[in-house]
Amino acid sequence: MTKTHKDVEVLMNEQRVFSPPKEMADKSNIKAWMDKHHIKSYDELLKKAEDVEWYWGEVAKELEWFKPWEKTLDASKAPFYKWYTGGKMNIVHNAVDRHMKTWHKNKVAFIWEGETGEVKKLTYRDLYIQVNKFANALKSLGVKKGDRVSIYLPMLLELPIAMLACAKIGAVHSVVFSGFSAKALRDRMNDCGSKVLVTADGFYRRGSVVSLKHNADEALKDAPGVESVVVVKSVGNQVPMTTERDIYWHDMVEGESMHCKTEEMDPEDPLFILYTSGTTGSPKGIVHVHGGYAVGTYSTTRNVFDMKEEDIYWCSADAGWITGHSYVVYGPLINGTTSFMYEGAPSYPHPDRWWELIEKHGVTIFYTAPTAIRAHMRLGDEWPKKRDMSCLRLLGSVGEPINPEAWVWYHELIGKKTCPIMDTWWQTETGMHMISPVPMTVLKPGTATKPLPGIVADIFSEEGESLTDKGGLLVIKKPWPSMLRTLYKNPDRYTETYWSKYKGIYLAGDIARKDKEGYYWVQGRADDVLNVSGHRIGTAEVESALVSHAAVAEAAAIGIPHEVKGEAIRTYVVLRKTHTPTAELKDELRKWVGIEIGPIARPDEIWFVEDLPKTRSGKIMRRVIKAKAKGEPVGDLSTLANPEAVEGLDHLK
Ligand code: WT7
Repeated sequence: MTKTHKDVEVLMNEQRVFSPPKEMADKSNIKAWMDKHHIKSYDELLKKAEDVEWYWGEVAKELEWFKPWEKTLDASKAPFYKWYTGGKMNIVHNAVDRHMKTWHKNKVAFIWEGETGEVKKLTYRDLYIQVNKFANALKSLGVKKGDRVSIYLPMLLELPIAMLACAKIGAVHSVVFSGFSAKALRDRMNDCGSKVLVTADGFYRRGSVVSLKHNADEALKDAPGVESVVVVKSVGNQVPMTTERDIYWHDMVEGESMHCKTEEMDPEDPLFILYTSGTTGSPKGIVHVHGGYAVGTYSTTRNVFDMKEEDIYWCSADAGWITGHSYVVYGPLINGTTSFMYEGAPSYPHPDRWWELIEKHGVTIFYTAPTAIRAHMRLGDEWPKKRDMSCLRLLGSVGEPINPEAWVWYHELIGKKTCPIMDTWWQTETGMHMISPVPMTVLKPGTATKPLPGIVADIFSEEGESLTDKGGLLVIKKPWPSMLRTLYKNPDRYTETYWSKYKGIYLAGDIARKDKEGYYWVQGRADDVLNVSGHRIGTAEVESALVSHAAVAEAAAIGIPHEVKGEAIRTYVVLRKTHTPTAELKDELRKWVGIEIGPIARPDEIWFVEDLPKTRSGKIMRRVIKAKAKGEPVGDLSTLANPEAVEGLDHLK
C-alpha cells in the first residue's frame, strides 16, 4: 500500500534517513576521486573544493584538450566569467571522437525504443559515423562556425546526432521542445537567427501521429532567416515538402563522408542556446559554452549517478529541456555511458510501460521527475510490482522538490528500499547539478542535501546575511564552469536578473532553507515563475498569450498546488465588453494558450472576473491574488488603486 500522508509525517518525525549501501559508497566514483587526491572524508572534500579554481582545474584535467588552458577562471569582466581561457577543445571530441581510440568504440551508446516497440542500438562508432555524416551535410547547406541551427525533434536518435553534429563543426544548436507550438518555435528561431531547422515528419504520442512538420511549416511562414529545413522521416506520414528549402535527412546524409574534422573551439565559444521562462513574457535565451559545460556535465554525471562502465542508464527527460541536454546527451556520452532512450509516453499502451522498459533493458540507473512519480503512484502499486526491477541500483529526481510521499513510494516500490535517490537541484542556467547527494550522502526525503564539491551556495536574507534554519533566497557565491555565460543578445538582462540583487553573487530565484546540518530544502520559486510538472512557465507568458485573444482585456495567472503536476495554472480573466462569459469561451481560451505556447502551458482553470487588483501604476498585484486563492490574509491593500477588486475575485461570472 502507498503510504498515507499521516504515515509519512510519522516517518519524517522519526527523522527518517537513509544511507546508501556501504559497499556502494566504498566503490563509488566520488570515493575513488577522493582517494586519488588524498582526501579522507566528503566533508573535507567540500571544504577543500571551496577553492573552486583548484577543484575545477583538477576535474578538467580528466577531459581531452587540443591545447591546455592557461587560466582556470578569469573573473576580470564579472559577471561575464570565463573558464579555461587560452585552451582549445571541443565537447564532441570528448563525447564521441575520443572513444574511437578505445574499446568504447564497440560499446553501445544508445539503446532506443519507439512507442510502437521498435528497438534500435547505436554503438559509439555508429554514433561517430552518423554525427560526421550529418555534420558534413550541414556544411553542405552552408552552416559555418557560429551559425545557429534550430532543432525541433521528438525523442529520436537524430536529436542527439543533430546536436553533436552542430557542435562538431562549431555551430550553435537551439533545441525547441517538440511539444511547443508553432508560434513558440517561430519566436525562438527568429530570436536566435537560425539558418537551418532540423525537424521530423511526425511522431507517435499515445498511439496517434503528431504531425510535427505541419507545426514547423506554420512557424516557417514567418521565419525569413531560415534557409533550409531538414526533415527526418520517422513515422512516414504525408507531409508537404517545399522545393529548394526542405530536404529529407536520409537523402542528405547519403554519400556524405563518414569522417569530418572536429572544429578546434575556444572553451568559451557558445555550444547552445536554450530558451527558458522568466518573469517577463519573452523567454530567455540561455547561452552555454563548450569548455566549462563539458567539465560540469561530465563530473556530475560521474559523481552523482556514479556512472560505471557496466551501467545502463535512463534519464526519462526529453532532450528538448536542459535535463536532456546535460543528462541524456553530453554528460553520459562524455563518460562513455550506455543510455536508454524512449520515444513514447510513460503509461502507454499500459500503465507499467516504464517499468517494463526498465526490466526489459536492464536499466541500472533511472533519473526522472517527481511529477512522473506521482502520476505513477496514482495508477496503483500493482503495476511496478508486476515487474522485476532488481537491475536498478540508483535513482534520481529532478525538476521540483520531491514530496516525502513520492520519495517514499519511489524508494520502496521502484528502488525496493535499497536504491539511494539522488535529488538533484539545478536549473537551465546552471547547466549541471548544483545541490545534490552523492552515493555516500545520508539522505532525508525532500531535500537535495548539500551543494556539490566546487559549488559554494548559501541562503540569504533580503539584506544579504547568511541564514540557517530560516527560509531565504538561494544564492551561489562563486562562479562554476557550466554556468550560463549570458542571455542571448541581452547581456543587460543577464546582469540584471542574476547578478544585481547581491554584488558578485548569483541569485537562483528559489526560496530555500538550510538546516543545521547544512542540508538545503528548496521550497519553490521566489518570482513569478510557475513549476508545472517540472517545467518552468512564466505567469507573464500565459498572461500575454491570453490578452492576445480578441475576447480578453486583462489576465492574471497564478500557480495553485496540484497533486500530480506540483503546480497547476489558474488564470483570472477580465473580458472585453464585447464578449460574454461562457463555458465555450473558457474552452477556447485554454486551447488558445495551447496554440500560443504549447499544451504544457494550457491553464487548468479559467475564472472570469470583473476586475483585477492593481497598484496605482497599473501593475497587477499577483501577490494579493495568490493570497486570496490560498485563503491566506491578503495583507496591506493601501497601495491598491481598486481594493474592491479583491472581493470580486470570488464572484465568478
Ligand atoms: C527550477 C529550474 C534543472 C532541470 C529541470 C528544471 C526547480 C529543479 C529541483 C529539485 C527543488 C527543483 C527550481 C529551479 N527545481 N530541481 N531537485 N528540488 N526544486 O529546470 O526549468 O530551469 O527549472 O526548477 O525551482 O529553480 P528549469
